[in-house]
Amino acid sequence: GIKIATIGGGSSYTPELVEGFIRRYDELPVQELWLVDVEEGKEKLEIVGNLAKRMIEKAGLPIEVHLTLDREKALQDADFVTTQFRVGLLDARAKDESIPMKYGVLGQETNGPGGLFKGLRTIPVILDICKDMEDLCPDAWLINFTNPAGMVTEAVMRYSSIQKVIGLCNVPIGMEMGIAELMDVDHSRVRIDFAGLNHMVYGLDVYVDGVSVKDKVMELLSQPEHSSFVKNIEGMGWDPDFLRSLNVLTCPYHMYYYKTREMIEKNNKSAKEEGTRAEVVQKLEQELFDLYQDPDLSIKPPQLEERGGAYYSDAAVRLITSIYTDKGDIQPVNTVNNGAIASIPNDSAVEVSCVITKEGPKPIAMGDLPVQVRGLVQQIKSFERISAEAAVTGDYGKAVLALTINPLTPSDTIAKDIVDEMLEAHKPYLPQF
Ligand code: G6P
Ligand code: MN
Repeated sequence: GIKIATIGGGSSYTPELVEGFIRRYDELPVQELWLVDVEEGKEKLEIVGNLAKRMIEKAGLPIEVHLTLDREKALQDADFVTTQFRVGLLDARAKDESIPMKYGVLGQETNGPGGLFKGLRTIPVILDICKDMEDLCPDAWLINFTNPAGMVTEAVMRYSSIQKVIGLCNVPIGMEMGIAELMDVDHSRVRIDFAGLNHMVYGLDVYVDGVSVKDKVMELLSQPEHSSFVKNIEGMGWDPDFLRSLNVLTCPYHMYYYKTREMIEKNNKSAKEEGTRAEVVQKLEQELFDLYQDPDLSIKPPQLEERGGAYYSDAAVRLITSIYTDKGDIQPVNTVNNGAIASIPNDSAVEVSCVITKEGPKPIAMGDLPVQVRGLVQQIKSFERISAEAAVTGDYGKAVLALTINPLTPSDTIAKDIVDEMLEAHKPYLPQF
């Protein structure tokens, strides 16, 4: 039987994942699902774990759900390990989002200073998990959702002996589903050639039944209501001339780079009015956990769809299924580049359309990125690599360097000031510094 270990099992997103396993049980007969969390998350683990048990019972499936704080026990002989933990919980995210704002820099959890510090907190923990995996389940696949997913996945590839690692994000699948809906066709008929990095991915082309519909989709993307595909970012619409010249599909996170000033203003305004996204999510989580506690609830509540991670269960479970069944279908994931995208280092993580078989993802060769987007992608890749190095070494200079070269940082002195304040603010979670 298949054994899955989910680290960060107390997450409010767990019902997403469980729903995915229920839906695909025919193809992917999971026997054991181990939800692991740390002492701090014990209460949430209990609540969400019991909901998971009720969901499975209602579906009438023989999946055993185990709740534990013992990571080693959960990892022992696992076939797939999924990671969805958040070091420092949402309080740390609130700091990632609010401290940069004081310096006029974007406060966002995966971009700019927030992305750097989330990486610095997360990478040592994931490397520790990898060490456990070496002993307890060396043949397992590690499917990482923990953000910043690209940086974290690359750190695993380059600084651990676990090579069966895949980074996963819901943005590409969200774009495909969103475009399918706009074009009024089933998701299975839409395909996008994805190439780039996590939260920095472009659609080089988009097809319905194999015929390019790029021009039509570009038109749709210029409308504000169709320019974002995730709940955590409000679309602003793109200038149609800009999109035509860019000549590739953007992902919602590109707004932070091509509309930096407007997005900072927008974020600051909503932070004043309703709190940072972390604070909004804290309230949402409270509501979710109140619902989860209801013993009569045995489905994923629709309120979960207010979170930015919609469809992530689909993405995760369809990925695991394709590995398990050696399917050979195409899915966008984060994997080692190996030449698929020219001018990105071969040993770097890229987000790219891949053929998924039992050997894992094989990236489809995309050639070089168009010159108009190539530089930004390379710059972000340099930021990710130096950030990962800082996370592993605890080198202060590297942390400042990473932030200084990030395109969202306007000056080296500001980078240094932000790093200093954030190192202090996150001190308990940064033992390497
Ligand atoms: C997007 C991203 C995820 C991120 C999420 C945040 O969908 O792809 O990587 O975690 O949004 O959503 P939240 O509801 O936590 O703001
Ligand atoms: Mn993501």
